[in-house]
Amino acid sequence: MTDDWNDYADGWDGNSDVRLFAAKAFSALYSHAGVSGEAWQSKRVLDFGCGTGLLTELIAPHVKEVIAVDTSDRMIAVLKDKNLPNVTPVHADILGGAAAGDKDRLSGFDLICASSVCGFLPDYAAAVKLLSGLLQRGGQFVQWDWQGQDSGEFGLTEQQMRAALEAAGLGSIRVKQVFALDTGGQSMPVLMGLGTRNADRP
Ligand SMILES: C[S@@+](CC[C@H](N)C(=O)[O-])C[C@H]1O[C@@H](n2cnc3c(N)ncnc32)[C@H](O)[C@@H]1O
Repeated sequence: MTDDWNDYADGWDGNSDVRLFAAKAFSALYSHAGVSGEAWQSKRVLDFGCGTGLLTELIAPHVKEVIAVDTSDRMIAVLKDKNLPNVTPVHADILGGAAAGDKDRLSGFDLICASSVCGFLPDYAAAVKLLSGLLQRGGQFVQWDWQGQDSGEFGLTEQQMRAALEAAGLGSIRVKQVFALDTGGQSMPVLMGLGTRNADRP
């Protein structure tokens, strides 16, 4: 194992588990947040920690544009090679301040997705707070992460997710297990967390 996401980029799309994760995340997004129909055709979406864009590819046909951001230049290179028409792949560190210098592109989103990203961040709660500030009023933040145990270091618990979404000032919060994947002979549950930027937040 390596800690560098660049090392996974070339084989990422060939991994059936990560493809299945993206497909199930999209299906949950579809059921719980909509993402279909004429109203969505004008929406701007940020896929935060997009990797090679497996979720981006599924969302893009339903919306105006997807800005797909990742700190791994090799993941972004794989996505760029796909030449998706309404997708802008961006190699940037939003949590390190990139959005402040690129406000036109990296703010005002109707939907921000983070699929299997938040649980790997050193300060997950701070990340949700920062990302929530990039939403339009009424915009939605949605994340999917492996469900963790209270005692464990892997994944996020329902409580952690709910607390971070609340601390970010989001409203209409929902946290629930939406699917499970069999990996290594074990069924691993995945949580979806969803919140909306209140219209009255400054
Ligand atoms: C498990 S992969 C998930 C990739 C993609 N969302 C998917 O479902 O296929 C985690 C991704 O998060 C990215 N990542 C980690 N920290 C990040 C950060 N601070 N900002 C943006 N992306 C980050 C990694 O580079 C990696 O591509």
